[in-house]
Amino acid sequence: MSASPAPWWQQAVVYQIYPRSFLDTNGDGVGDLEGIRRKLDHLEWLGVDAIWLSPFFKSPMKDFGYDVADYCDVDPLFGNMDDFDRLLNDAHSRGIKVMIDWVPNHSSDQHPWFQESKASRDNAKADWYIWHDADPDDPTRPPNNWRCAFTNGPAWDWCDERQQWYLHLFLPEQPDLNWRNPEVVEAMHGTLRFWLDNGVDGFRMDVIHGILKQPGFPDMPEGSDAHFTPEVRYDIEGTIDAVRDLRRLLDSYPGDRAMVGEVYILSTERVAEFYGQNDALHMAFNFPPLYAPWNAEKWRKRIDRVVEELDPKDAWPTWVLSNHDNPRHRTRYGSEARARAAAVLLLTLRGTPFLYAGEELGLEDAVIPSDRVVDPGGRDGCRAPIPWTSESDHGWGQDDNWLPWPANADTHNAEVARHDDGSVLHLYQRILAARRGSAALRLGSFEYLDAPEGVLAYVRASGDDRRLVLVNFTDDEIACEVADSWRVEVSSVRGPDGAGYEGTLGANEAVILHP
Ligand code: GLC
Ligand code: CA
Repeated sequence: MSASPAPWWQQAVVYQIYPRSFLDTNGDGVGDLEGIRRKLDHLEWLGVDAIWLSPFFKSPMKDFGYDVADYCDVDPLFGNMDDFDRLLNDAHSRGIKVMIDWVPNHSSDQHPWFQESKASRDNAKADWYIWHDADPDDPTRPPNNWRCAFTNGPAWDWCDERQQWYLHLFLPEQPDLNWRNPEVVEAMHGTLRFWLDNGVDGFRMDVIHGILKQPGFPDMPEGSDAHFTPEVRYDIEGTIDAVRDLRRLLDSYPGDRAMVGEVYILSTERVAEFYGQNDALHMAFNFPPLYAPWNAEKWRKRIDRVVEELDPKDAWPTWVLSNHDNPRHRTRYGSEARARAAAVLLLTLRGTPFLYAGEELGLEDAVIPSDRVVDPGGRDGCRAPIPWTSESDHGWGQDDNWLPWPANADTHNAEVARHDDGSVLHLYQRILAARRGSAALRLGSFEYLDAPEGVLAYVRASGDDRRLVLVNFTDDEIACEVADSWRVEVSSVRGPDGAGYEGTLGANEAVILHP
């Protein structure tokens, strides 16, 4: 064991909150910062260690806050800086850390920086975004063949004022910042310092893997995909160097400020590079497991990639099943039994787990009628409001809000779940309590045991502390003998009875066993 204790972010369970969807407190049908503060009781009881807030900054909301018009202020829709300070203080007084979202790749087109940049070719911020001249032979042809997210249209838009193209890897209203300009770097560092000085514990860094582009802006080869061959578009080495500077900045503050990068690359080997020599990201999201189906072999391959690529580098893994960009795992996996077993898996692998608000309730995605679609990327279903009570307004003050309710809101709201110790909510609470009580689960080594087909079995160990985890991915009961006698600490299907483990797993049952 190393001499210094593991930093908080290695031992934490982080809980992602999409502020629009958590709780509304002023009757406009959109969640706000005060709504988050009022639900800290829920989070404290659940036992999460940290929250990550998706963007609440000034924004025209074309991408619901991921289009930032002022990095250092709260959008009035969510409240104001006082609301943020109150939330931060109340969270801290309960021992809950607060991470916020930082969106460095692009700003909103309404950001004053872009407004100035686009006004002329020689203003003070002319070089803050990525501008390209038109091809004299074919002025209507964009500078290269890159496509933007969501619409899959060209990643370049024409600006009449400047008579030039600008790059946007996301919506046209989200122009990419020019990270090769030292003034941009300095300004963006300033936004980090602003929030660090305000006391935040860390950042989730949006689309961090490609903030520097390949200098020549080469065409993507036919049929290639930037998620698998990111090096065609992005200057990965340059980007990692830029991340090292961010790391130095965070490390210059007391108190283990941490960053987790959204490294949206579907190769764990490449994701590993973003940890540098332990001098770049503290943590990177690793998305291949999020896209793995509910299948023991497929999951084992994803876990093996992490063990092979991250462990040798001493790079601390992360695990995530649901977030604001993808259908919830309860919906993807198609049954509550699977979603429950998946919770045991997520929270007992080696690394920091990230929960997405509402997964602890076992919420399904909302079904969105076509006249209620609001997101250009089709992600509304997983962003449905969280149902807190069993009344028709589910604690929001009005029945109808910016999005419809999750499909199972009447049976899986927080009020019903709290009163039923067999609920998904109580299961999450028990797993989190088990983690709190076990260094093996939080920080211990990871080793597979032999197991029947369709089952994953592994031991987590730290000194004398040991836990054995069995996950049955099949819809059948399976005999799964284990050496020695173990007791059931948590079962995804049974209540907290602490019975001895008798050698059989129920359909889609996952258990945490202790000696
Ligand atoms: C990230 C966010 C996503 C957003 C995109 C553009 O992928 O998770 O919600 O739309 O970046 O900022
Ligand atoms: Ca509101």
